[in-house]
Amino acid sequence: MPRIALATYDPGAGPSRDTDLPALVRALADAGAEAEARHWDDPAVDWAGYDLVVIRSTWDYSWRATEFAAWVDRAGALTRLANPAPVVRWNADKRYLGELAAAGVPTVPTRYLAPGEPAGLPAGHEFVIKPTSGAGARFAARYTPAEHDTAVRHLARMHAEGFTAMVQPYMPGIDVRGERALQFFGGRLLHASRKGAVLSPGTPYDADKVAHPDLERWRPTEAELAVAEKALAAVPGAHALLYARVDLVDGEDGEARLMELELVEPNLFLWLHPDSLPRVTEAILAAAEGAATTAPTIA
Ligand SMILES: Nc1ncnc2c1ncn2[C@@H]1O[C@H](COP(=O)(O)OP(=O)(O)O)[C@@H](O)[C@H]1O
Ligand SMILES: [Mg+2]
Repeated sequence: MPRIALATYDPGAGPSRDTDLPALVRALADAGAEAEARHWDDPAVDWAGYDLVVIRSTWDYSWRATEFAAWVDRAGALTRLANPAPVVRWNADKRYLGELAAAGVPTVPTRYLAPGEPAGLPAGHEFVIKPTSGAGARFAARYTPAEHDTAVRHLARMHAEGFTAMVQPYMPGIDVRGERALQFFGGRLLHASRKGAVLSPGTPYDADKVAHPDLERWRPTEAELAVAEKALAAVPGAHALLYARVDLVDGEDGEARLMELELVEPNLFLWLHPDSLPRVTEAILAAAEGAATTAPTIA
């Protein structure tokens, strides 16, 4: 009987935002595993006691990046971790987007501004500022050139907290075509979803946002699959991925571009895709038994 931990965040007194977790624990138990949801930051957990630790919903990690990186390394040294520690570490810093762009993956054009670097914000078009360590649109906002001073204050706050900022043109295609999430699990396409735009004009960067508005099922186009495949092929350590979510938006030219590649703790949206639960369960069980994972392919 494989012992499997699903690593999640501690929601405190409130309910967990990971509504998929109970169904996943149950499905793994029904399939003969001993599965438990555990808080990643719980010092009482004996990670070595599990055959596999699957990072599922450690959704507070982006503002505890150093602590999380240490946990990933520790857990990865004690047992089998999915995704593996090196690729999680690589993906937790959104400078990976620049690396993928350099490797020829169509990405949302991105400039990085580390603390101390002069701003030089776009004057001719709307733009987005967000942190290189982020999730759920935390600390993200969009600005018109007329909002330059507000944008500079946003940058200053991020830099004061030690974050490197990303500056991107606002991709207007997202308001019409939304953002598509292609999910891969156990080396194959699992399902895809589409959601609406998250950033509204004038919403303060430190406001809470709805991370996945108007989520619906989506059948990916050939072009989207091609970009996803290219992005995944460029990941260092792609062969060892258990799961991946590829988030795409349309550029000015209407072509799909990578917004984010989620290899840490992607929301799987199983509530929207209940038919995917058996595949996820199967792939986790195979990983627990040490089956070699293969590079995600579209086939
Ligand atoms: N350049 C952009 N153009 C349009 N919308 C953007 C842009 N960057 C971010 N957004 C919006 O903000 C959301 C969060 O940004 P994202 O890069 O996905 O970071 P995370 O999901 O990790 O917080 C996206 O889902 C999208 O709706
Ligand atoms: Mg995102």
